[in-house]
Amino acid sequence: MKLRKLNLVSSILISFLVLLAETAQPPFACDSSNPKTKSYAFCKTTLPISQRVQDLISRLTLDEKISQLVNAAPAIPRLGIPAYVWWSEALHGVAFVANVTSGINFDGKIRSATSFPQVILTAASFDANLWYRIAQAIGIEARGMYNAGQAQGMTFWAPNINIYRDPRWGRGQETPGEDPLLTGKYAISYVRGIQGDSFEGGKLGVADHLQASACCKHFTAYDLDSWKGIGRFVFDARVSLQDLADTYQPPFESCIKEGRASGIMCAYNRVNGVPNCADYDLLSKTARGQWGFNGYIVSDCDAVSIIYEKQRYAKSPEDAVADVLKAGMDVNCGDYLKNYTGAAVREKKLPVSEIDRALHNLFSVRMRLGLFDGNPAKLHFGNIGREQVCSKEHQNLALEAARAGIVLLKNTDKLLPLSKTRTKSLAIIGPNANVAETLQGNYKGPPCKAVTPLQALQRYIKNTKYDQGCDSVNCSSAFIQEAVKIAKEADHVVLVMGLDLTQEREDFDRENLVLPGKQQELISAIARAAKKPVILVLLCGGPVDISFAKYDQHIGSILWAGYPGEAGALALAEIIFGDHNPGGRLPVTWYPQNFTRVNMTDMRMRPEPSSGYPGRTYRFYQGPKVFEFGFGLSYSNYSYEFISVSQTKLYFSQHSRDHTSKNSESKGYKLVSEMSAELCQNGKFQVKVGVKNHGEMAGKHPVLLFVRQGTVGDGRPNKRLIGFQRINLNARERAQVEFELSPCEHLTWANKDGLLVMDEGSNFLMVGDQEYEISNGI
Ligand SMILES: *[C@@H]1O[C@H](CO)[C@@H](O)[C@H](O)[C@H]1NC(C)=O
Ligand SMILES: *[C@@H]1O[C@H](CO)[C@@H](O)[C@H](O)[C@H]1NC(C)=O
Ligand SMILES: *[C@@H]1O[C@H](CO)[C@@H](O)[C@H](O)[C@H]1NC(C)=O
Ligand SMILES: *[C@@H]1O[C@H](CO)[C@@H](O)[C@H](O)[C@H]1NC(C)=O
Ligand SMILES: *[C@@H]1O[C@H](CO)[C@@H](O)[C@H](O)[C@H]1NC(C)=O
Ligand SMILES: *[C@@H]1O[C@H](CO)[C@@H](O)[C@H](O)[C@H]1NC(C)=O
Repeated sequence: MKLRKLNLVSSILISFLVLLAETAQPPFACDSSNPKTKSYAFCKTTLPISQRVQDLISRLTLDEKISQLVNAAPAIPRLGIPAYVWWSEALHGVAFVANVTSGINFDGKIRSATSFPQVILTAASFDANLWYRIAQAIGIEARGMYNAGQAQGMTFWAPNINIYRDPRWGRGQETPGEDPLLTGKYAISYVRGIQGDSFEGGKLGVADHLQASACCKHFTAYDLDSWKGIGRFVFDARVSLQDLADTYQPPFESCIKEGRASGIMCAYNRVNGVPNCADYDLLSKTARGQWGFNGYIVSDCDAVSIIYEKQRYAKSPEDAVADVLKAGMDVNCGDYLKNYTGAAVREKKLPVSEIDRALHNLFSVRMRLGLFDGNPAKLHFGNIGREQVCSKEHQNLALEAARAGIVLLKNTDKLLPLSKTRTKSLAIIGPNANVAETLQGNYKGPPCKAVTPLQALQRYIKNTKYDQGCDSVNCSSAFIQEAVKIAKEADHVVLVMGLDLTQEREDFDRENLVLPGKQQELISAIARAAKKPVILVLLCGGPVDISFAKYDQHIGSILWAGYPGEAGALALAEIIFGDHNPGGRLPVTWYPQNFTRVNMTDMRMRPEPSSGYPGRTYRFYQGPKVFEFGFGLSYSNYSYEFISVSQTKLYFSQHSRDHTSKNSESKGYKLVSEMSAELCQNGKFQVKVGVKNHGEMAGKHPVLLFVRQGTVGDGRPNKRLIGFQRINLNARERAQVEFELSPCEHLTWANKDGLLVMDEGSNFLMVGDQEYEISNGI
């Protein structure tokens, strides 16, 4: 009897535990069923967040305060505050963080998340609304995982918006490319989407509540990981004021001002001698002061310890801790602040007020995420269920993004698309042909689905033969004879080549731009042997010098697919067989191999002809290119015309001429800061561009609007992107797109002092091969 009762109790206990595990609760503070927390002012949702945070901080001991300054912040049980994990990743889908306490886990009922294309490919769509929808889906999946009890944090360390300055950079794949305007627009879309704002912005302003928190990284001028023995921990980026002003900083300014990001990550590297995380001017004066940043600032992982241990910028660990907190950093990824903040206070290197300042930012973000509002199931985002993770809708969006990004680089004699009916057999060759994980690039999570390019092509053509062609992507040995044999017998050959994370990744930059090992030899041999010109597909984040393929008549078509995510193989097959018309355009310049003569540590954007330094990116680089920024073919061709420009003569005031310094006048430009807001406002104008699809297929076509200045020299760019829009056009359809331009924003460049200026005289708007002159009378 007694025994049976005990059994009953234990079986009830077991079912209760099972139930608990199945309906895992997300962690939250201010549980309304806890009578104690009711009395805390920090739990009163009717009070403003700043007041609640102040109350919370006033209740903490110094040790408790210090414990909260690191990425894995422990619980404070006496106040009912759960642990919080600041570190989560969601670069192109909710992701894993290897071997650390991650804010997100895939150990519960949710085992995977939608894996969108790696960012560099998503950027190639030049479609800000698509970027927004992707980020929105990521934010929903993140919240769904939190609600399902699989998250201890909702702060995601994305987007990566450093300018893709050098083609060898191992993390270029994570970025939207080399253009500051494009990167800034990507940042805004990503942040608004994931945080739960509207596409146009402003919705968040009302209550400040966040669906999930985004983080603009790596602030700033972080563009090198590990190259020829020079590593990011010690790299001191020498950056001119001019390049900072119109290349490195604008994406961050957009991310913060327009995106309203709630996080910033300061980078490992120094800029002109000062470690980013210890730079008061950067973190406090610029980001918080000038740009109105409202959120938390996290160090890159171990970026505080290196300030003392590797850079020797600080004289002791305590000095490093004091330096970063005084500069305005709030939380340390790593444990330096946990270990040394107490000593820094005791040694009077750091006032407690700096700790309180940091905590204010940290708890404000946690409150804005709704983690101090009682049971989150009852709150605004509480209805996002786990069925939203890997939903059909999100998986379709991953497919749409891959379709939109893939770039057609060559298509001689309209080899593509292949006929679905007349193609009887295919040979599919290459080390990237039968891989799935490679499609994701870095910062990935477990995808909802995994389909390899081989599998996707087999859905179209049953009669296929496959050969890996190389031992691995590095292709240190190639199986040329075997591959040639199957190539000779097939109607068409698709080669799936390129790079993977063994060749380009975090902490690993490339030293070459050509394809690794014997890939080129293999490709050329197969191209010579095949019945018809072959199709070359490149999976890679960074550009490769494939000049040999561009000029080889046996290679009919080339597709660049970046790392196209979980649905990327399907998108590729659809494009090859004409179920989708490719429209992506390159977000980076493809340089020839001899660009590797340029020192990767050289941060200068502008060329220096006297020393042979060619400059960087389409805005400044003056050497030969394999493919241009913005290049991309389609199965249709498009033509453009300028339909109207609402102002073609812009006048920037007679009376302000009085304030123009002699110096500035003689240079033919004027400081934007000297122009009134009203002048800038009045100067706005509209440009209407007509676009026609001359082809037989509907297509989504990104229209890129550039401007070129009439005056050259003094570091003026060759041309620069000032607007882009993706337009849907049926076969033979004509339509128009409209751009609104603001001279003070779009017709400016930075002078040597790092000040934005506007040229007097002509500017030429450019779209395709069309130009339109407008003139500035300053
Ligand atoms: C994570 O830890 C496992 C097991 O200790 C190890 O094999 C793996 O290389 C680690 N991964 C990273 C990225 O450090
Ligand atoms: C911080 O302290 C812990 C425990 O004493 C130690 O294991 C760790 O190495 C320290 N970290 C640093 C960066 O000094
Ligand atoms: C090429 O990759 C293989 C397999 O990953 C590896 O064993 C080999 O060391 C690599 N070779 C080179 C030259 O990197
Ligand atoms: C690479 O070679 C081309 C053609 O010879 C030349 O114009 C260019 O300046 C070279 N680039 C560099 C960085 O040396
Ligand atoms: C590259 O530039 C760094 C300074 O950024 C300099 O120390 C190094 O000597 C240069 N290397 C070459 C090969 O010019
Ligand atoms: C588009 O292609 C067709 C056929 O090749 C050609 O006749 C036409 O001139 C092209 N139009 C443009 C605008 O390039």
